[in-house]
Amino acid sequence: MQNVGSVYLTRKLPDPALQYLKKRCSLKLWNEEQTPVPRDVLLKQIDQVEGIYCTLSDKIDREVISSAPKLRVISTMSVGYDHIDVQFAREQGIKVTYTPGVLTETTADLAFTLLMSTSRRILEANRSIYEGKWKGWAPLFMAGRDIYGAKLGIVGMGRIGQAMVRRAKGFGMNVSYYSRSRKKEIEQQEKITYKPLEVLLQECDFVSLHLPGNTDTINLIGKKELSLMKPTAVLINTARGTVVNEKALLEALQEGIIRGAGLDVFEKEPIEPGHPLLALPNVVALPHIGSASIETRFKMAMIAAEDLLKGLQGGHPQYEVPIN
Ligand code: NAP
Ligand code: GLV
Repeated sequence: MQNVGSVYLTRKLPDPALQYLKKRCSLKLWNEEQTPVPRDVLLKQIDQVEGIYCTLSDKIDREVISSAPKLRVISTMSVGYDHIDVQFAREQGIKVTYTPGVLTETTADLAFTLLMSTSRRILEANRSIYEGKWKGWAPLFMAGRDIYGAKLGIVGMGRIGQAMVRRAKGFGMNVSYYSRSRKKEIEQQEKITYKPLEVLLQECDFVSLHLPGNTDTINLIGKKELSLMKPTAVLINTARGTVVNEKALLEALQEGIIRGAGLDVFEKEPIEPGHPLLALPNVVALPHIGSASIETRFKMAMIAAEDLLKGLQGGHPQYEVPIN
């Protein structure tokens, strides 16, 4: 089999993708599955590589890119690419590939799981049994809020936002959305309504974020936006931690400005176990597992591997990061 070049892989991948790469390129790797490659190790390992296969926890910035003068392709096993300096890479003639689409339904499932577990207080109710707080059936014991008939506001009507609409419709929710561009066809097809962000925040019972993390979306939801939300409303964030001002969110949750939050992403990941957000009973926190089903992660790993090699062979990768 033809060797297509020298590649650095920042994480031990599931076997099919790992074997695929091993057979087709000269592979150096950080041979750990759970922990990211330390930055100093990454910087030392890449001076001769033509391809980098990374994950969203590796910051591939100017320094990294400049430390790999032969680099031609960066492939990330994620749909988000906020960890890569894409513009600088392009200026150096380096292709950047990612894994859109394949994780859409899996991530929407997780966002909806957060919506359901926050509305029906699933973690609180579960803990109450072990903490001996369940004294028997009581009229308002662990009473949450209805999902059926509630208003869901989706912020970012892209692939995952649209998958979220399909789930919400199945549960009899009323859906409105805010996004960078209007999606008139989806509005008609799904019977959903476009609202300016301020209006959506004021009206909705659940607000679910599905935007990319970048300089336009940083702190999109801050103190002012949270104060517009209903005191009974819940914020769901499976997008990026940077989209929400975490300090403002903490205050809003502590002061009852909003009722709860379901969070899969944080400003700093991994979040410290002692972080005050995690002590709140009205927060359901998850360790960035939006796309974490076995099926989807195997597919993502393989797509990123195939696109890396296509790029190194001078062909057209299937999923190059778009120019915004
Ligand atoms: P997508 O298809 O590109 O959708 C993003 C949507 O956000 C698009 O509709 C886009 O508008 C809109 N948008 C972009 N910038 C905006 C802005 N400044 N204001 C308002 N709307 C804006 O991406 P996707 O596949 O749905 O993924 C969305 C994000 O979810 C990813 O970038 C990633 O950060 C996150 N994610 C997280 C997990 C997880 O594990 N928690 C898993 C997968 C994805 P246009 O339609 O006009 O482009
Ligand atoms: C996950 O957050 C991704 O961007 O794939």
